[in-house]
This record gives sequence, structure tokens and C-alpha cells, in this order.
Amino acid sequence: VSVDVSQGTVSLGSFEFECGESVDALAAAYETYGEFTGDNAVLVCHALTGSQHVSGRHRDGGTAGQARAWWDDIVGPGKAVDTTDYYVVSVNVPGSCYGTTGPSSEAPDGEPYGTAFPPVTIRDWTRVQRLVLDELGVGRLHAVVGGSAGGMNVLDWAVAYPDDVHRIVPIATAARLDPQCLALDGIARRAITTDPNWNGGDYYGGDHPDHGLGIARQIGHVMYLSKDSMERKFGRRAAGRDFVRDAFPADRAADFFPYREVESYLDYQAEKFVDRFDANSYLYLTRAMDDYDLAEGYESDADALAAFEGEALLVSFTGDWHFTVEAGESLAEAFRDASVPVAHHVVESDHGHDAFLVEPEKVGPPLSDFLADGVRGRSVTDTARDGGEDPTEYAPVHNSLFSG
Ligand code: COA
Repeated sequence: VSVDVSQGTVSLGSFEFECGESVDALAAAYETYGEFTGDNAVLVCHALTGSQHVSGRHRDGGTAGQARAWWDDIVGPGKAVDTTDYYVVSVNVPGSCYGTTGPSSEAPDGEPYGTAFPPVTIRDWTRVQRLVLDELGVGRLHAVVGGSAGGMNVLDWAVAYPDDVHRIVPIATAARLDPQCLALDGIARRAITTDPNWNGGDYYGGDHPDHGLGIARQIGHVMYLSKDSMERKFGRRAAGRDFVRDAFPADRAADFFPYREVESYLDYQAEKFVDRFDANSYLYLTRAMDDYDLAEGYESDADALAAFEGEALLVSFTGDWHFTVEAGESLAEAFRDASVPVAHHVVESDHGHDAFLVEPEKVGPPLSDFLADGVRGRSVTDTARDGGEDPTEYAPVHNSLFSG
């Protein structure tokens, strides 16, 4: 089965960011899959370093890793988000580097913006998506789906445009990052800004701050794995291949000791990443994620969600310490307190945060059933209703409006 895929860029003209600064000409790159029938649009929000290229592994977009068909196992003909039923739209967020205007884009003076680009927030991502959907003729969305920072983007839809979306699926996400994650993101940014090639963000004409960006990505990878997945993937083994060993400088004594699998993995990932991502974009997008707080401008998370009249499926993974099951449960409580029908589906997985990308057989069924039937969908479970994997751990005693 083949479905229509279209790629494009919408010129949105002058755009004022949440911070109050503007750019004269904001362009937004998007992809769509399938046919719009009026009520079948599903917006897929990409994670931090992802792109609008959600599905279609056979197409070579010239990008790699998370930027190339990053959810091909979930989105496509006959898959959980079935593009023969749904019209899937994905938009590259402002501040990124896959076609939507960001720090590496050309400013009116003909030079890249660099760090003169306005600070970007997740609300800016949401507003740009809304404008692109207007251009595509999509009013109300059947659903908004996304993981990680993309899950925060999903939550923001329920707050910014509560009447425009019927069902939301925030996956492996939280109402806000905890201080441990803020710390690691801060260190990752330091790695970039202390690279001599970063040069205040003005490096486009010369050597790029690849070491700094590579280290930032390595910190990210450690956050996306778990103790168990690292044990399984690498243990303490010495690396079978040495080809990335020279990626970073080393001291003479290093030769006496093994270069380990875990180091080789991270060095390989760093090398791949710097070829596909812009260092300034990494600064901008991690700041947007760090800044996000569901309750901002409201009295509480529940208050922020109060105007949303649709349904929500939250998916968390037991091995994820970046966005924990506890953070997911606290978010579920907020939905319950706001009287929004919600299911918090906990997936048993030792894959860490990456589980939402590498466990399609566990994510697909609840997602597909929820898109079709809402929280009553067949394979959708809920911590409050079913007790999750371990009822004693997750069954919350809650005094929400719902329990009455
Ligand atoms: N030394 C060197 N390279 C190694 C290695 C080692 N010890 N072990 C694995 N690799 C290589 C693999 O050969 C593979 O190479 P390829 O990409 O050229 O095919 C690559 O590392 C990825 O392998 P791995 O991470 O083990 O695959 P996976 O299926 O477990 O996970 C991804 C796939 C895409 C989820 C993961 O690679 C990734 O990119 N994670 C980050 C995703 C992300 O950005 N999440 C953030 C959300 S905010």
C-alpha cells in the first residue's frame, strides 16, 4: 500500500516569538502522509533533535539517526498510526535545523542568525504548528502525538488550543524537567559554549564546535539509556572496534587501559550527530525544553488543563529516568483533577528513555486503540483503573473530581 507523502515549506512571514522579539520571514518545513478527509488529521511532534521526516525509511532525506524516518515503526501504512486512515502532519520546530528557520538560517543581512536568533519556547513550536495547519486547511485535529520534548509540545497543544484537538498522546514526558535533568542539559550546553570553535555562536564560516556538540550528545545518550540497558549493551567490555578511538584527544596513559564498548558507542554517536545537527540549535532547543512548565501562568497543572475537553493517553516506561513513571503519574493526576478522561499506560521496559523509539510493539497497540476508541481502547491500560504493571506501586489514592 502506498500513501501520498508531501514535503513542503510554508512561509509564515513576520513572526513574533513569545519573548517579544521577531524575525521578518519565518519558514516552516513540514511533511504530510495520507489523505485529509476533514476529521482524520494527526499531528506528530518530534523530539529535541528529530525532524518532520517521521516515516518512510526508504526515502533518503539526506539526514541520519533521529532525523530520518525516526518513527517509521509506528507511523505508516498498516502501522499503529495508520497513514491509510489518518492524515499525519509533522512540522520541524523553530530553532531547529531541518528546514524551519533557526540559528543556522540566513538572516536578512545574508549571514546566519547565530545567537542573534530570538530565544525560542515550546509555545513558539505550538504556534508555528498551528499556522502551518491553517495553511494546510486543517482546523480541528483528531490527535496530537509525540514523545519526550515532543510530548511537552503535545501537552502545550491542550493548553494553547484546547478546542482544536480531540485526543492527545504525550509519551515519555512530564509537566516539567527535574533539576537533575536541568543540570545535565546545562553541562551539555557548557560543552558547546566552551568549545573554542563556538566563537559566541558565529562559526558558520569556519570550523564548527564539533567536540562540544559531540559531548553534549554523549550526555544526552547517557540520559536516554538505563543502568540495565547499558549493562546489556556494553557491560564493562573492551571495544571490539577501535575506529572511533581518535575522535577525542587522549592522554598517553590511556593506551594502557581498555577503550570500552560504552566509550566507543558514545564516540560513534557523537561523530554521527555532529554531521547532522547544528550546535546553536542544540542550545536553543534544550533551553526550550528546560524552560517548559505546564503550570506556568496557571495555579496548577490541573488548572492549565482545565479548558481541554478531549481525552488523553499518557505512556511511560519503567526504565526511563529522564522522564520517570512517577512524573507521568503526577501528570495523570493533573488530568484526573481537571476531569479530563485520561489513561496512564505504563510499559515495562529496561530500554530507558529510548524505549519510545525502540519498543514499537509495546507502544503501537495502546496508541492505535486510543486513536480509534479513546481511553476505552482495548489495549489501553490505566494506573488508576488497572494498577499498571504493579498495582501496589502505581495505584494512586486520589481525591479527584473523578473519583466522586
Ligand atoms: N561501538 C560503536 N558503535 C556502536 C556500538 C559500540 N559499542 N554499539 C552500537 N553501535 C552503533 C550501531 O552499530 C549503530 O550504528 P548505525 O547507526 O550506523 O547503524 C548505532 O550505534 C545505533 O545503535 P543502537 O543505539 O544500539 O541502536 P538501538 O536500536 O538500540 O537504538 C536509537 C536506536 C535510534 C534509539 C538510538 O541509536 C538513538 O539514536 N538514541 C537517541 C535517540 C534520541 O535522540 N532520543 C532523544 C529523544 S529526546
